[in-house]
Amino acid sequence: MPDSKLQKWFISASSLINEALEECLARPLAEKSPEIDRLIEAMKYSLLGRGKRYRPLLLLAAAEAMGEKEKTVLPAALAVEMIHAYSLIHDDLPALDNDDMRRGRPTLHLAFDEATAILAGDALQSLAFQTLAQMGERNPAWKDRVSTSIFMLARAIGPFGMVGGQAEDLAFEKKTPDIVRILSMERKKTGELMAASLGIGAALAGADKRTAGRFRQIGLFAGQAFQIQDDVLNQTGDPGQLGKAVGSDAERGKTTAPAAIGLDEADKLAFHFLTQAEKIAVRYSPEKLPWLLKVMIQRSN
Ligand code: IPE
Ligand code: IPE
Ligand code: MG
Ligand code: MG
Repeated sequence: MPDSKLQKWFISASSLINEALEECLARPLAEKSPEIDRLIEAMKYSLLGRGKRYRPLLLLAAAEAMGEKEKTVLPAALAVEMIHAYSLIHDDLPALDNDDMRRGRPTLHLAFDEATAILAGDALQSLAFQTLAQMGERNPAWKDRVSTSIFMLARAIGPFGMVGGQAEDLAFEKKTPDIVRILSMERKKTGELMAASLGIGAALAGADKRTAGRFRQIGLFAGQAFQIQDDVLNQTGDPGQLGKAVGSDAERGKTTAPAAIGLDEADKLAFHFLTQAEKIAVRYSPEKLPWLLKVMIQRSN
């Protein structure tokens, strides 16, 4: 497949995701309440902002690699993006990274207020599980696959996954853990959700446990590379292009891979993890998934 065809897929799949995300929050409320309206506005502000949509794209690509139509698994793709949006809202809060800019706009707690940001994050998390579970409610034949997916998602973002990684990230501030501990923290805070996105895509398409596990492994490698690149860009990137602050990791004393081993070694490590991810991906998807992994990791925004 030529690059232009892959780019066309990227654009059309991203619009499919964006339109469906809008629909999820556009449903009229049974009970009119100005407070709930405001909460939904806050959820929209974050969810529909200028995100790159990599996690839902990974999910669609994994499902397609295992022979399922993208449209069929779309609700699951929306669910992982909702979880991601929730994680970013909470990550930016004053008690965590205390960031002012996200996706080219003021962070949610500044655009609204802190309580609303906490609640909008909570609500996006529940809406994600509702959206995923609904796939099984609507199609009973899918119940087993959906149940596996719910399990995978919950495990990936809990105390031994994303939230655990976030706890370690905060505890490591101004400390000097070795690179092994840093990579383990980054695997949890970033890798696990990417792993779940790919694993769920494969599982919904009917992949057996072993195969879904290999898709998860692609995500773990990709997540490590992705987070290292994110940390490199926090030192070298352009805030306009990134839509978020540059230099904030150093200001807060964040313990990142480039801070621990230097930019050159961090670049090499990201490339190593990308190569590991591609090696597995190419077995299932000769073109699309390896291409997407490269685009995700060799990015400047
Ligand atoms: C940012 O993720 C948070 C990290 C895990 C590094 P993205 O770079 O995918 O954020 P959006 O969705 O494009 O804003
Ligand atoms: C974000 O990590 C990880 C999660 C939100 C789970 P970072 O704090 O490094 O990401 P940015 O730089 O704020 O996007
Ligand atoms: Mg953080
Ligand atoms: Mg942050």
